[in-house]
Amino acid sequence: MAIDVIHIENVSVEFNGAVILNDISLEIYGNEFTVVIGPNGAGKTTFIKSILGLIHPSKGEIKVFGHNPFREGEYIRKIVGYVPQYIRISDVIPMNVLETVLMGILVKKKPPRIPSKTDIQSALQALKVVDMVEYRERYIHELSGGERQRVLIARAMVRKPKYLILDEPFTGVDVKSQRELIEFLHKIHVENKVGMLIVVHDLAPIIRYVDKILLLNKRVVAYGSPRDVLKKETIKEAYGAEVEILEHDKICYPLLGDVHRHR
Ligand SMILES: Nc1ncnc2c1ncn2[C@@H]1O[C@H](COP(=O)(O)OP(=O)(O)OP(=O)(O)O)[C@@H](O)[C@H]1O
Ligand SMILES: [Mg+2]
Repeated sequence: MAIDVIHIENVSVEFNGAVILNDISLEIYGNEFTVVIGPNGAGKTTFIKSILGLIHPSKGEIKVFGHNPFREGEYIRKIVGYVPQYIRISDVIPMNVLETVLMGILVKKKPPRIPSKTDIQSALQALKVVDMVEYRERYIHELSGGERQRVLIARAMVRKPKYLILDEPFTGVDVKSQRELIEFLHKIHVENKVGMLIVVHDLAPIIRYVDKILLLNKRVVAYGSPRDVLKKETIKEAYGAEVEILEHDKICYPLLGDVHRHR
């Protein structure tokens, strides 16, 4: 029987002897909308990369829907779509929107990587989900931050994953486009039944769609429903006593400045 959970047991990650993730144990449900928050350097990206089999934990076990991300990396990357935190978009080799989405399929093929009619259909279908079909011939480096993120979501969706992992997809995206992106992700979650794991900086705009929050700072500070996790004490524990907190409808939000420069 397929087990639709990401099972993480006693996982630690070390880089050059420094402990980055310390004894993480939790289960993330494949049908849920899960958000990961935590201060800079908390290990959020490392956590995601461990799930994807891109980083080898020094201890512990990870099973993604019953599969080992290392031994079955190729399978994991087929069923789990990934939008990384920083993507270099080359304007040396200009690529248009459709070609970028097609890369999501073609990387799996041996050269010469010539898209089939079905590949193009799948790419257009994925662009439709994020309402970007009209932009298909525009060059990626000409797009706004929000439009670019929509294309990258389409690129992750083109292989029809059952789960989608996004690492701070709203960085460098203005408030209006951020709201649109959140609506697209919610739609994908509901209509295509795709589970979501999203690292975010600002919780407020996404909170109404969230099932679970993981508050991470090298270890699991808290994991559960927004109401259970977003308490003054837990936020201070993760972000430090000096963090400003905004309380709304019995839910507390850490007030964080713009901590990421666009790289
Ligand atoms: N490949 C690596 N080699 C050595 N140290 C690393 C490596 N990757 C990350 N680190 C370190 O591990 C810690 C956690 O990094 P990570 O990128 O996971 O944090 P994060 O929570 O995603 O931060 P941010 O909010 O800035 O994206 C940092 O101190 C970082 O410098
Ligand atoms: Mg990160």
